[in-house]
Amino acid sequence: MRQIFTFDEVDSTNAVAKRYALEGRGECAVAAARQTAGRGRLARSWESPRGEGLWFSLLLRPENVPAAQAGGAVFVAALSMAEALSPFGPARIKWPNDLVMGGKKLCGMLAEAGFAQGMCDWIVLGIGVNLLQTAFPEALPHATSLLLQTGARLAPQELLPRFLSRFEPWYERWQREGLAPILEGIRPLSATLGQRVKIQGREGEALDFREDGALLWRVEGKTEAVLAGDVSVRGLYGYV
Ligand code: BTN
Repeated sequence: MRQIFTFDEVDSTNAVAKRYALEGRGECAVAAARQTAGRGRLARSWESPRGEGLWFSLLLRPENVPAAQAGGAVFVAALSMAEALSPFGPARIKWPNDLVMGGKKLCGMLAEAGFAQGMCDWIVLGIGVNLLQTAFPEALPHATSLLLQTGARLAPQELLPRFLSRFEPWYERWQREGLAPILEGIRPLSATLGQRVKIQGREGEALDFREDGALLWRVEGKTEAVLAGDVSVRGLYGYV
């Protein structure tokens, strides 16, 4: 059973989990009721109001995962969270790792990792799920919460064990079998595949995932692969 550290308030659960990683601690989860400096991808901040969402980070120490494959952990988490939320509403996975509902963003993930001798030493996977907010700042037009989408009042402390019970078996499988079974699970839940998308100013159609998790898309008459890095994928008519 994974050890869970819970805090009332921290700057960022990713910062705490990263400190634990560098101190040499083993696998665990770090959750907080509120973050004062929640971090998002692309150097953005992440709104983390007290008790209104699940703000947590996993410290992972996967066995025998080459550094180049560390990014697969976010797919494992995205699939697990979509499954954990499925009794409450249809969460879909926007490549690479946002969860969306009703065309808006419900959950985001931020991964950091450390490597040694070409292998993955640690991964910190920060996950934020908007649950109980009834409104968002104007600056976040694409954000939504589970409550706004479905009327369900799911408490953060209820969602974390639901997520972990999905995550642990998928995580085991990823370490044993690689990304293929994870991508197979994601395909039917994908909000991206089959859609017209805009990536770095170019428009095309999202076709499939490559075996390493890259997005294959048809653009300007060719099929190209996009790596899950610092890119934003947008639908032509909105966020998804
Ligand atoms: C994104 O931009 O989509 C990623 C958002 C990640 C937010 C979570 S909340 C828990 C963890 N701690 C952080 O500071 N960020 C992540």
